[in-house]
Amino acid sequence: MKALITGVTGFVGSHLASYLLGEGIEVVGTCRRQRDGSVPPTVENIRLVECELRDKTAVEAVIAAERPDYLFHLAAQSFVPASWASPGDTIHNNVAGQVHLLDAIRRLKLPTKVLIAGSSEEYGEVLADEIPVNEHNPLRPMNPYAISKIAQDFLGMQYYRQYGIPVVRMRTFNHIGPGQSEHFVTSSFAKQIAEIEKGLRPPVLYVGNLDAQRDFTDVRDVVRAYWLAIQHGAPGDCYNIASGRSHSIGELLQLLLLLSPITVSVQQDAARMRPSDVPIVVGNAAKFTRLTGWTPEIPIETTMQAVLHYWRTL
Ligand code: GDD
Repeated sequence: MKALITGVTGFVGSHLASYLLGEGIEVVGTCRRQRDGSVPPTVENIRLVECELRDKTAVEAVIAAERPDYLFHLAAQSFVPASWASPGDTIHNNVAGQVHLLDAIRRLKLPTKVLIAGSSEEYGEVLADEIPVNEHNPLRPMNPYAISKIAQDFLGMQYYRQYGIPVVRMRTFNHIGPGQSEHFVTSSFAKQIAEIEKGLRPPVLYVGNLDAQRDFTDVRDVVRAYWLAIQHGAPGDCYNIASGRSHSIGELLQLLLLLSPITVSVQQDAARMRPSDVPIVVGNAAKFTRLTGWTPEIPIETTMQAVLHYWRTL
């Protein structure tokens, strides 16, 4: 069995590639060249193919050559603030890439099973009596990134309904772990702590909104869910992937600081504040648990240790 992962050099893609290799699956991944012309590093024992997903011809050529049994579509512009800075790029990148992939599978009449990585950001603002949010909740997006993920999600549904392509749509809540970019909150805090420990910066930790509450799952639990989902998910259906518990960003910061001997002063950085921020997110993954038995296994404290260890040893 062969899996194609778009965005295999990214955070989730590299964890998924390692997991699938462990399951005995052949892994091929698409990547884009970096600005300096080099190919980004990734996990061993996978095959990398260069492909710009916004290029319809290039996408069709890769799908025709690889004819994967499974397609995990993870490549995306995934940072919410970047979608305010460049809304058009986020929409184009995230939506066009997916249209090209699904359309190539349609034109080539392949039996490929497809997993679309959607987001809890699709739900956006959630009312107090809707928590924990399930898949029937109204979508009230609060940023262009969320809109791009709704488009991806609904395109997946449409390609199933119209052409019968077996697409499973994931609505994944926050996922964290070693290897995530410093743009995201836990990595940003852990990197600063590791640098302060090494004396590379003064003991001042810059933060954004510490009151937001998010539902965090370790990325290694998430990729296990993705493998279960693509095998057992009902074609056309959508599933939340979440822990069912929320933590404020301030709590996460305290968890990280408990793992370090340093004392810091915490300072709010205006550039890290957002024009709008979903205040509280808690997901209900009961539908997926009923289907597959999946529940998250890695405690948040263990994830925090792994994230801090990653930045300390980088
Ligand atoms: N990035 C960042 N940096 N966020 C901060 C900071 C900081 O210094 N301080 C506080 N925050 C708050 C943000 O305002 C937000 O409320 C929360 O921490 C999480 O921010 P991110 O880690 O950037 O994640 P996100 O919730 O915007 O989006 C992530 O999760 C989505 C799923 O819910 C991303 O991984 C998305 O791609 C994903 O779809």
